[in-house]
Amino acid sequence: MLVLFRKTPVIGALLAQVVALPVVAVITAPLSTSVERLPLIAIALVLQGLVAAGITRLLRLPRWWLLIAFLFPLAMGSVLLIGNLPAWPFGLVFLVLALVFSNTTRGRVPLYLTNAETASVLKDLMRDRAASRVLDLGCGLGGVVRALDGEGRRARGVENAPAVYLAARLLSLFTGKGEIRRGDLWKTDVSQEDVVYAFLSPAPMAALWQKLSAEMKPGSLFVSNSFAVPDVDPDEIWELSDARKTRLFLYPIGKAEGEADGEADGAADRPA
Ligand SMILES: C[S@@+](CC[C@H](N)C(=O)[O-])C[C@H]1O[C@@H](n2cnc3c(N)ncnc32)[C@H](O)[C@@H]1O
Repeated sequence: MLVLFRKTPVIGALLAQVVALPVVAVITAPLSTSVERLPLIAIALVLQGLVAAGITRLLRLPRWWLLIAFLFPLAMGSVLLIGNLPAWPFGLVFLVLALVFSNTTRGRVPLYLTNAETASVLKDLMRDRAASRVLDLGCGLGGVVRALDGEGRRARGVENAPAVYLAARLLSLFTGKGEIRRGDLWKTDVSQEDVVYAFLSPAPMAALWQKLSAEMKPGSLFVSNSFAVPDVDPDEIWELSDARKTRLFLYPIGKAEGEADGEADGAADRPA
């Protein structure tokens, strides 16, 4: 059952709200005679959010679902209480969210972005390796692609969320930096890249490594931001000095087992 919730967290989130309803009803029932209607509704909505968030935790959903579970009843309650609002703003918000996050429930990779310090470290890494081609799998708004493109380097990104792709493509066109393609990272050709970069989530890492280790050329490098490949020792782990203490996991392609440089037992600071 937990596997189902891990695969499709939205089912766990809905279940949490359904289970929380009777619990909140039982807790708030005795208050109905002594507390005014509006404060009572507010108490019930906050309780509903708290209980649902607690249940999503028990179901081991990723942390951001706690926030969603807590805010959802408050948002629904506010909308119902405010009354006769026009429907179109909700439709518009839904459309924008769908265009940005439509791939998240399937791929379990939300949108968050690589910071400038990490992009700068990646640029140094490419310079040190004299690497000229880099691909960002799931490039988001394309910040890494634009940061790495130029000075003889060709940077490309692939992105499948429609609105995110459009924004990345436009930014790339306006700045003249990088190439952004709309597509599925799983179907993307990685065979010509010197470096492949990904900042995804723990969910796809095992399958992603299978693809990359089979398709990337020997001597190339896979760099994963924050998420290690399960059961595969990285050659190096770089811990950056940015605010979020970003960790970069470096996996050389075509290195035989046991040939690793042996730094991966602990995190190495990024080489100066
Ligand atoms: C965490 S963001 C990272 C964005 C960017 N690489 C960065 O580091 O700033 C992951 C991105 O991968 C995209 N993504 C998830 N699954 C994908 C897939 N199967 N194909 C292409 N893009 C995907 C998401 O839409 C999201 O924009």
